[in-house]
Amino acid sequence: MLSRAQRSGYEAIIITVDTAVLGRRERDVRRGFTLPPKIGLDTFIDGALHPRWSIDLLRNKPITFANVAGVTDIDGTTAIALSDYVNTQFDQALSWESLEWIRSATDMKVVLKGIQRVDDAQRAVSEGIDAIALSNHGGRQIDGTIAPVQLLPDVVDAVGGGIAIICDGGVRRGSDVVKACALGADAVMVGRPYLYGLGAGGERGVEWVLDHLVSGMKRTMALCGRSTVDALTPDLVTF
Ligand SMILES: Cc1cc2nc3c(=O)[nH]c(=O)nc-3n(C[C@H](O)[C@H](O)[C@H](O)COP(=O)(O)O)c2cc1C
Repeated sequence: MLSRAQRSGYEAIIITVDTAVLGRRERDVRRGFTLPPKIGLDTFIDGALHPRWSIDLLRNKPITFANVAGVTDIDGTTAIALSDYVNTQFDQALSWESLEWIRSATDMKVVLKGIQRVDDAQRAVSEGIDAIALSNHGGRQIDGTIAPVQLLPDVVDAVGGGIAIICDGGVRRGSDVVKACALGADAVMVGRPYLYGLGAGGERGVEWVLDHLVSGMKRTMALCGRSTVDALTPDLVTF
């Protein structure tokens, strides 16, 4: 998360509200994507084309699925299909009623991630949720769902001020953070950008991505003539 949330050191439990079923990711199916990755001919070719990455991979510990190693039957070393694993993890009974239990189990703030409709945002306010993340999970569940930044103005109109609003997805540059904040978001989330940084350069790669976002944000704000995030206003953005 960046911007206002970053400044206030926001700590929260994030509940993903609509991934009880894994979307059919056709490229994963076509390529037989497993955890950990299976080595095939294409992996060798790719490895040969990226020797530095391959040497680094060979010199380090094998990739395992740390989240599950030692916790479940899946020890993180046997290749399993991503969808098989995910389907064992999600509780399809999750509902608005589950919130009461979640709140009783923690003192942390609760964020609902996956809001895609104004009425759900309104419901989140009435349920006393601390923040909502407008999100289609990066379009990885259903393609063709509304982009969070397009939904943002309507949600801000309906519940702005009553709840923290996070815009999740599609943020690639600092200017994207500026657009979201100008339209009324309190923060943004990024998914793929930090993963790309992590894959390409480990911790330094993630730092590079964050620096890229922050410097782009500052530059865009300077070009807009605004010196604070609070001074960003919707009139700076046109669709
Ligand atoms: C590899 C990968 C795994 C993800 N896993 C989850 C997940 O388990 N739960 C979830 O709510 N979102 C998950 N997401 C979605 C991200 O949290 C985020 O909503 C999305 O990536 C934002 O879009 P962006 O990639 O354009 O920034 C995942 C995204 C990626 C790329």
